[in-house]
Amino acid sequence: MAATNIEVWQQGEIIEISQAANDIKKIVIRQSKPAKADPGSHIDLMVKANGEMVRRSYSVVSQSEDLKDLTLGVFLVPNSRGGSIAVHELNVGDQLDITQPLQNFPLRVGAERYVLIAGGIGVTAIMAMAAVLKRIGANYTLMYAARSRDAMAFREELEALHGENLQIFFDEDKNFIQIPELIASLDDNTELYICGPIRLMDAVRRTWLDSELENTNLRFETFGASGWYDPEEFIVRIPAKNVEVLVNKQHSMLEALEAAGVDMLSDCRKGECGLCEVRVLNLKGRVDHRDVFYSERQKEENEKISCCVSRIVTSESGLAADASGPALVEIVTT
Ligand code: FES
Repeated sequence: MAATNIEVWQQGEIIEISQAANDIKKIVIRQSKPAKADPGSHIDLMVKANGEMVRRSYSVVSQSEDLKDLTLGVFLVPNSRGGSIAVHELNVGDQLDITQPLQNFPLRVGAERYVLIAGGIGVTAIMAMAAVLKRIGANYTLMYAARSRDAMAFREELEALHGENLQIFFDEDKNFIQIPELIASLDDNTELYICGPIRLMDAVRRTWLDSELENTNLRFETFGASGWYDPEEFIVRIPAKNVEVLVNKQHSMLEALEAAGVDMLSDCRKGECGLCEVRVLNLKGRVDHRDVFYSERQKEENEKISCCVSRIVTSESGLAADASGPALVEIVTT
């Protein structure tokens, strides 16, 4: 199962849409150039949002045996930048540009034990992995947490497939994954795969790093979708280049700088690789670090930002009481 992230674009036709949970649609897309989706794969697709074509990534939940059809689960993101709204407005029969499946969250087959943690829509990145582990008879536990029963997608099929290997947690029951206890129970023969909201991933990552466990046995997928604060408009300035850009809620700092003609480096655009790093000169507000690249200490220092996902906000004491206007950051690009 070689990981691939070579982009091949093709046509996709929507052949089925149904409601998988509150605000989550199950969407089946037929590929014009059918390619295999290994566990942990995603596709990128182009949709029109707010009058412009935008590119969004969605995990492949499952694939038909003939490889033609890919099932996605798409969450209508609150304070969406427009992509998920546009995808929710698609209809059966619509055609769109999609990539063949891309892979940067591969499952390593061969570990003695696996723990898979899915939070909310993060289950879409985990489901295909769990199905493979079931098929090969691996020792695995799938832990799936959601706000409520209504918000949990794909529950019935997961229960049918995974039986006792599946543990379900609902915030509405105040039943949460006990992260310290879980991680204390693991050893170096266990691999943990996680995809979910930043709070959950951050808690797991911090507890893992405080343990003696091998760093390489913790693997995560972010999609850079959620932060600690709601997105706000903010200003980014590059004094050395005499550039000032207003970053609206619909775009990332990276996208806004690119649109302004600034030469930027990037790769994952999901807060994982660090290539889009910018250095902070001045800050009026608070950095909403949405990446998983920097350590806790680096995030507290606020000297560097992954500008593909992280944002600046005025919220929660980010600004002095008499401050007015949007938050602002002055940076140096690297
Ligand atoms: S491009 Fe990879 S962290 Fe921003």
